[in-house]
Amino acid sequence: MPLITTTERLLIRKIVDADLASLGRIYSHAVCMQYYAGIKSHSETRAWFEELAFDSYNRHGFGLWAVVDATSNEIIGDCGITLQQTPAGLEHEIGYHLWREFWGQGFATEAAIACRDYAFQNLDLRRVVSITSPDNIPSQKVAQSVHDRKEIYQKRVRGSGTLVDRHLYISER
Ligand SMILES: CC(C)(COP(=O)(O)OP(=O)(O)OC[C@H]1O[C@@H](n2cnc3c(N)ncnc32)[C@H](O)[C@@H]1OP(=O)(O)O)[C@@H](O)C(=O)NCCC(=O)NCCS
Repeated sequence: MPLITTTERLLIRKIVDADLASLGRIYSHAVCMQYYAGIKSHSETRAWFEELAFDSYNRHGFGLWAVVDATSNEIIGDCGITLQQTPAGLEHEIGYHLWREFWGQGFATEAAIACRDYAFQNLDLRRVVSITSPDNIPSQKVAQSVHDRKEIYQKRVRGSGTLVDRHLYISER
């Protein structure tokens, strides 16, 4: 399975079809998805990774990747780069989703820093961001450790049209 990068404790590699069952645990769990619109069914999780991993690898050379414990070889979640709209346009966003058993150990921060460095060194990107909702404090703490500065912007929710705040964490080289 093609390796993207490594850290002290983790391997970051491309996601393969056989990983979707493990990753599906995260996306179908109400606590893991508490800051998202809702949980995802098996087919919704597959569609998510078809777009943000498999298609994205082919189209862009990046996407969501598997985060693997280097010692046990167990997949603990995903982290990687997707294209997201911000007030600055379509931006390269680092996102992360871990199975809850692996929270509180610094794995998401370690993986996201590795993705930021990969983006700068291997993809030659000049700017990467992470976007969080104001109430997702764990995600904000990760983003704070990964990026240099923060801006707040407002986004209109599709459907209801309500304006909500988004925290935009930015790294530039
Ligand atoms: C967002 C998410 C990945 C954050 O997970 P996390 O475990 O809080 O983040 P990390 O893996 O970086 O761990 C950081 C925590 O581990 C602690 N820690 C323990 N050992 C550590 C180490 N060696 N290095 C760094 N931190 C360590 C830190 O103190 C911190 O704890 P704190 O938040 O109580 O201060 C997780 O909550 C998640 O998967 N949520 C669901 C998906 C989601 O919302 N994603 C974000 C979308 S915007």
